[in-house]
Amino acid sequence: MTDPSTPGSGAPSARTLVIIPTYDERDNLPTVVERLLAATPDVSVLIADDNSPDGTGEVADRLAADDPRGRISVLHRQGKQGLGAAYIAGFRWGLERDYSVLVEMDADGSHPPERLPAMLAAVDEGADLAIGSRYVPGGSVVNWPWQRHVISRGGNVYSRIMLGVGIKDITAGYRAYRADAIAALDLDSIESKGYCFQIDMTWRLLNTGRTVVEVPITFTERTVGHSKMSESIFREAAVNVARWGWEKRRRQLKGLIGR
Ligand code: GDD
Ligand code: MN
Repeated sequence: MTDPSTPGSGAPSARTLVIIPTYDERDNLPTVVERLLAATPDVSVLIADDNSPDGTGEVADRLAADDPRGRISVLHRQGKQGLGAAYIAGFRWGLERDYSVLVEMDADGSHPPERLPAMLAAVDEGADLAIGSRYVPGGSVVNWPWQRHVISRGGNVYSRIMLGVGIKDITAGYRAYRADAIAALDLDSIESKGYCFQIDMTWRLLNTGRTVVEVPITFTERTVGHSKMSESIFREAAVNVARWGWEKRRRQLKGLIGR
């Protein structure tokens, strides 16, 4: 188990860093940051931009310069390297600065900042990871085409069977982590780029005995811009999850034979 020494201590959001990865989110970013700082005024925000062609990086710089409390920072990255790589860079940035909670949030408004207090409370109560979940009672998805529902539900069922875990929304991208749970991982070894990054992180935490809980959220599909998810991202998840499941069963089998 993990070190439960600090839950309940101090203001939970005082050392929280919300990482927002962006690629072409010029028109979405200001709104989501405004909502976030209204819902949780004491968090810090790190925008991790992959040199968006639409100028999101400059929008982010302006938001940072305009915040009177200096809560917003921007990580300018060289080019599009995927969601996973942007988050890993953001995690490192946060760990170097001693944040105690690291949050993942999309820039397109799909992840309601108003639910962050409930997620932070779950971490404060001892969870290593609180997932903002669409598929526990009280959670939902608004405005998705039926194909996207099928892919998402299918991906979750597939992962549950392959990995043998009970998490209802393992691909979810809205998350609050205890920083020390992330610090204990070998971040260099994480290569997953798309949805798979979320499954990868969850799988690593579960395998090291960490506590993962799900907090219901309503996910609302973006109205501006478009999703960056692609077929290659889908394929990466399908192949990796099958491999992790296979490796787990091989370990279990070895354990049985070894006895
Ligand atoms: N820096 C950076 N680099 N940001 C990126 C990149 C990238 O290569 N690709 C995507 N992003 C950013 C987007 O700008 C957005 O803020 C966020 O990552 C999510 O991207 P979307 O393209 O909106 O993802 P989605 O809506 O299809 O998928 C969401 O739901 C999935 C589960 O259904 C995400 O939350 C996924 O993480 C999640 O698995
Ligand atoms: Mn989205």
